[in-house]
Amino acid sequence: MKSAIVMAAGKGTRMKSEKTKTMHQVFDKPMIEHVYDNLKKAGVAHIVVVVGHGAEQIQNYLKDKVEYAMQMPQLGTGHAVMQAECLKGETGKTIIFNGDCPLVQPETIEKLFEKAQDAQFTLLTTVLDDALKYGRIIRDEHDNVEKIVEFKDCNEEELQVKEINVGIYCVDNELLWKYLPELTNDNAQKEYYITDLVEIFKKHGHTVNAMVASDPDEMIGVNDRVMLEEATCWLKRHVNRQIMNQGVTLIDSEHTYLSTDTVIGEDSVIYPNVYMEGHVTIGKNCTILPGTYLKNVVIGDGCTIDSSRLTDTKVGNDVTIGPNSHLRNGCEIADKVRIGNFVELKNSKLGYNTKCAHLTYIGDSTVGEKVNFGCGVVTVNYDGKNKFRTEIGDGAFIGSNVNIIAPVKIGKNALLAAGSTINHDVEDGDMAIARPRQEVKKGFGDKYKNK
Ligand code: UD1
Ligand code: CA
Repeated sequence: MKSAIVMAAGKGTRMKSEKTKTMHQVFDKPMIEHVYDNLKKAGVAHIVVVVGHGAEQIQNYLKDKVEYAMQMPQLGTGHAVMQAECLKGETGKTIIFNGDCPLVQPETIEKLFEKAQDAQFTLLTTVLDDALKYGRIIRDEHDNVEKIVEFKDCNEEELQVKEINVGIYCVDNELLWKYLPELTNDNAQKEYYITDLVEIFKKHGHTVNAMVASDPDEMIGVNDRVMLEEATCWLKRHVNRQIMNQGVTLIDSEHTYLSTDTVIGEDSVIYPNVYMEGHVTIGKNCTILPGTYLKNVVIGDGCTIDSSRLTDTKVGNDVTIGPNSHLRNGCEIADKVRIGNFVELKNSKLGYNTKCAHLTYIGDSTVGEKVNFGCGVVTVNYDGKNKFRTEIGDGAFIGSNVNIIAPVKIGKNALLAAGSTINHDVEDGDMAIARPRQEVKKGFGDKYKNK
């Protein structure tokens, strides 16, 4: 079985924050959630998160998606791993993961597991022009990894090394628990370093190997706000590139924000200044115009959305929405619907080919097929205390400036005259007109003007 220990108990002093480090947002999610998602996608079944500093922040967020181990006080990364005792006795490989490595992709994790088939301890490394304060990888004359030396423990020569420790290791689980007790805190920081396991495994005659990652930027360990911003930029670019490689045109990728959980079909075009959050699925041949915000939505094929806001909503095929419309709270829009400008829909269903082109509010309503809304229709769904539903049958024609006071049911092919205030049900095929009759005063207009 593939298991993981994610180390997230440290304070993250360099962030200068009340928030525990791994709860800081990188692009669209807290760091710890990226780590969780990437491990899951790589097929890791059992994830133990080591928490300590700000434990409740992580626990309140990830809830029971993972198992927790408490590290109190925090005596180093080796000590953090020791707390994940619930994994003792399990067979197979365990990946040990720095909680501040949010960018390491599922494919990289899978490759690391493959590399680990040839060794008892495998580490992930990369080569940097400036190795900063990362731990240095020291290799022997045969180019085998000999040890990892922490920045603070490096001598002059070791400081020159450009290959660094990413903070992700894949280990034989039984051997891990056998050798953890051999770690000591005999170093510059008086901490138990997980990195010392390299020498311990070698001393006992086990094979240690390393996978050198080709993209150093993916390996970033976020320690401060500057790195946080770098990580966000990398992930945004990465997500955008993946989408473009799947056949989607982003006119200006720099100003397009897609969430990591966005899926878009071929030949769709996304204009600049579009923002997506949460789970967003868009079909083929769609056009998403500037100023659109989408959160947790599913959109079918061939749709056009223009400068509109859609949250928690499902849209069928060949639908046009906007400019400047707002759909929210569980709307379901069938195929070929047209929603025009300044229309708000809340918790409502619109049937096939229904049209609602201008200045309309539809709340808590179930609307059938081929219904036509004039301009400025309002479903009056709230009496100040309770919300009520409106039902409108197929083929109904709702004139302009009609108020429909819920609860009320409008039958199939019913006709509501413009300007009506409707507060009683209308049967199938009937017409309702509810407005004062017009009175005409002959010549009064001229008289008034000349006064
Ligand atoms: C660590 C590595 C270093 C590597 C770098 C990569 C060690 C000793 N050093 O250093 O070789 O180059 O990551 O980014 O492992 N944590 C705990 N409990 C603790 C201490 C830390 O859970 O007692 C967690 C932190 O919350 C963090 C992760 O472990 O998520 C790494 O800790 P951090 O202090 O950032 O390690 P580095 O100094 O960056
Ligand atoms: Ca770090």
